[in-house]
Amino acid sequence: MNFAIVGCGFIAKKHAEAIKNIKGAKLYAVCDKEPELMQPYVVEHEAEPYTDFEEMLQNPNIDIVNICTPSGSHAILAELAAKYKKHIIVEKPIAMTIEDTDRIIKAATENNIKLAVVHPNRFRPVALKLKEIMDSGKLGEISHALCVVNWNRGQHYYDQSPWRGTKAFDGGVLMNQAIHNLDLLLWYLGNPMEVMSMDATRLRKIEVEDVSTGIIRFESGAIATVQASTTVYPRNYEESITIFGEKGTVKIGGTNALYFKDIIIEGMSEVEALEIKESIEKNPWGTPGHQIILSDMMESIRQDRPPIVTGEDGKTALSVVLNFYKSSKEKRLLTL
Ligand SMILES: NC(=O)c1ccc[n+]([C@@H]2O[C@H](COP(=O)([O-])OP(=O)(O)OC[C@H]3O[C@@H](n4cnc5c(N)ncnc54)[C@H](O)[C@@H]3O)[C@@H](O)[C@H]2O)c1
Repeated sequence: MNFAIVGCGFIAKKHAEAIKNIKGAKLYAVCDKEPELMQPYVVEHEAEPYTDFEEMLQNPNIDIVNICTPSGSHAILAELAAKYKKHIIVEKPIAMTIEDTDRIIKAATENNIKLAVVHPNRFRPVALKLKEIMDSGKLGEISHALCVVNWNRGQHYYDQSPWRGTKAFDGGVLMNQAIHNLDLLLWYLGNPMEVMSMDATRLRKIEVEDVSTGIIRFESGAIATVQASTTVYPRNYEESITIFGEKGTVKIGGTNALYFKDIIIEGMSEVEALEIKESIEKNPWGTPGHQIILSDMMESIRQDRPPIVTGEDGKTALSVVLNFYKSSKEKRLLTL
């Protein structure tokens, strides 16, 4: 199947690498406003370069469009791609408002095309194993969880492009970084019902939050605390999720959440827990999440089934972020 990438910046490289590693996939075309950014893909993949997105969409050989542009531009590009009947893989966050998200989902449904959102952290080996543990019921009733993203994005990170750190195109630590972890939390704990949050712009000169602490109450009754920041000195400090259940406590973490830090489960021996930890440590990154999402898109087209991470999944994670923002602004608890 033929892929086309729009937006040839940082994340496009991961999409191109994934396409290269998938049997039967080709990077057929690329599009960017800046022609020199497309050059590496023209050379390595013999991709056709386009500076005009709509012109690229008119090429009938393109099956799937990967949207890798600033977050605030996803909706307008996705709507257009759907109009030309291209299947869509859109980077996270799916969009920056619920209205834009609904426009994307509606366009995909009306044009009968597949829509996948790139939430790749689900496919880290440790995250998949934790999902298996959660689904097995071994932890019993979940009482609460703790989700932490204490990272560093210096001022130079925000200053590298005009869209970064803006309200309209990027959002702050919740919308850009912690949305990955929120997606995981929702995947593990189910429907969010209530949220409350406090955020601040403490150390970076940006329009959006660089520190945030929020609480989610899930339909199950479990409560999760989410603490996120990009202000940590001098570098990334911790990304983790800890689940506390009546029969177990499990923590995944590290500078990136790639490892089991604790596996304490009723009836599980220390040896067994150690074996699980070590099996993950052998290959903590596993197959890249981008590759899994892209190859799943090809399968979902072939089998005419929904992709592994749907537009609705993207919308749920976004809605928690937006309600955190609203709660913080209005200083009150919100029911979703
Ligand atoms: N899944 C992940 O782990 C992950 C990681 C980083 C970024 N992202 C997401 O990927 C998206 C892009 O981030 P990035 O860091 O690659 O940004 P970037 O600034 O490095 O690249 C964006 C590119 O899009 C191009 N562009 C913008 N508008 C365009 C248009 N209308 N037509 C054609 N080209 C256009 C720009 O010229 C630029 O080259 C964001 O939504 C971001 O949240 C996801």
